[in-house]
Amino acid sequence: MLHDFAPERETFQRDVLQGLQKPCKELFSKYFYDEEGSLLFEQICELDEYYPTRTEISIMQQHGQEIAALLGPGCLLIEYGSGSSLKTRLLLDALQTPAAYVPIDISKELLLQSVASLASDYLGLEILPVCADYTSAFTIPACTRPVARRVGYYPGSTIGNFDPEPAKQFLLQIARTCQGGGLLIGVDLKKDFNILHRAYNDQQGVTAQFNKHLLVRINQELGANFQINQFGHYAFYNPGESRVEMHLVSLKHQVVCISDIEISFNLGESIWTESSYKYTLEEFAQLAATAGFTVEQVWTDSRNFFSVQYLRCNG
Ligand code: AVJ
Repeated sequence: MLHDFAPERETFQRDVLQGLQKPCKELFSKYFYDEEGSLLFEQICELDEYYPTRTEISIMQQHGQEIAALLGPGCLLIEYGSGSSLKTRLLLDALQTPAAYVPIDISKELLLQSVASLASDYLGLEILPVCADYTSAFTIPACTRPVARRVGYYPGSTIGNFDPEPAKQFLLQIARTCQGGGLLIGVDLKKDFNILHRAYNDQQGVTAQFNKHLLVRINQELGANFQINQFGHYAFYNPGESRVEMHLVSLKHQVVCISDIEISFNLGESIWTESSYKYTLEEFAQLAATAGFTVEQVWTDSRNFFSVQYLRCNG
């Protein structure tokens, strides 16, 4: 049974209008992930330039047993933004008798598909899907078996999409949910700026299409009239802020209608659609500490591009 806390159309509309009426226009990156957007993101994960997914998977493959041993038997695994649950399979393969798996995702279609596929491959695993914007209020469903501890799973370095203060708030939320347990998290690391630049500016233009999909979605769901080809994908690493910024830049002066409201764009004006913060291990340990976590173990790849970390909830 699906526990449904999916954001309403009204919430989407309100967020879009509020974001586009700010002096510096912005949209929340969580809205990339409808069914089509989630598929585009999966295409990004396959790109040569996009190193994070491949690197994180290799870390999970290499250290799966050790990771599973740290999490221990009987854990309730709660995944924030489970998508197609591909990385989760590596964890489930190694975990000793998990109490249940709670995948949380904002895309209902993708969530239902991946639950069906997992259910047929992991017989006997209790799966309790929750459709929600995991930054908003929702409850963790009860499971049948006894739970030794709750463990959050947050791969993909999606923590990087939060500015520092909201990142701390979100980690605090996980710490409250997983009291007495821990959090297994993927964190992308600082590296050569050019490698970062390429990862968000792929040759094939899949990232550009992903970025523009936000406008396609606003057209589809809110009846807006964005001319998609009149916006350009612009992504760059901002070293002073330690983040990749993704923008959609207006290629001309234009006015767009969204449910009777007119939004005007100057030539060159941008909509900020995503930030992707990059951390050093020290910086991330500090952030985790402010949210009540202690870094217990860190696994990285040979190039130190990416890290998988097990954080224990304090007290
Ligand atoms: C999955 C959200 C971590 O920020 O790197 C990929 C999303 N955006 N290419 C990231 C993304 C552009 C990705 N996260």
